[in-house]
Amino acid sequence: MTTVSVDGVEVEVAAGTTILEAAQLAGRWVPTVCYDERQAPFGACRVCMVGVVGSPKPLPACTTPCRDGMEIETEEPTARRVSRAVVELVLSELPEAPAPHTELAQVAERLAVGEPRWGGAVHRRDDDLRHPYLALRHELCISCGRCVRACDEVQGAFALTATGRGFEANIAAGLDAGFEESSCVSCGACADTCPTDAISEISLVKRLKGA
Ligand code: SF4
Ligand code: FES
Repeated sequence: MTTVSVDGVEVEVAAGTTILEAAQLAGRWVPTVCYDERQAPFGACRVCMVGVVGSPKPLPACTTPCRDGMEIETEEPTARRVSRAVVELVLSELPEAPAPHTELAQVAERLAVGEPRWGGAVHRRDDDLRHPYLALRHELCISCGRCVRACDEVQGAFALTATGRGFEANIAAGLDAGFEESSCVSCGACADTCPTDAISEISLVKRLKGA
């Protein structure tokens, strides 16, 4: 076993336990966006930064394994600044604020990220409403990869693919032929894990659009 302290709370964890898992065991909150406990950690968003005594820079909690004697500080100021800045940047690229019930909105609120201060480019609206049950609103996608992993790891359907890089990064269904033409089995795992509602039930989206 390995012993670490999280904000002064000592926890014993098994080898291979991540900082995020240790923090959760200690009852401490670490912001996450690309993490889903049902999936292997991906380490894409860099929102889960924490301080570790002796480390010159913040570390991503979801992919960093605990070492014996580690002293973890979930609210270390530099780490918190990085988490806030990343969430603010992600929000600044969306053409609309994510709905309040979404994970991204809730993480932003808890981190006290207000209106993004940057007025840069925002994703252009591009909705795929051809699937009978699921809506894919590309403009709300933050490329966290959770839907792709849910489809691959949980369902084994491989209907979704990550596309593009940087600002252009997004996802495609059925090699961009659309959900309807893809190998999607309508399980809803992608909508269930999406932290922004970029993939969601089509009935909700049609209601919002008054269609
Ligand atoms: S559609 Fe949602 S879950 Fe999939 S990559 Fe985009 S934000 Fe993440
Ligand atoms: S939650 Fe750790 S990198 Fe995204």
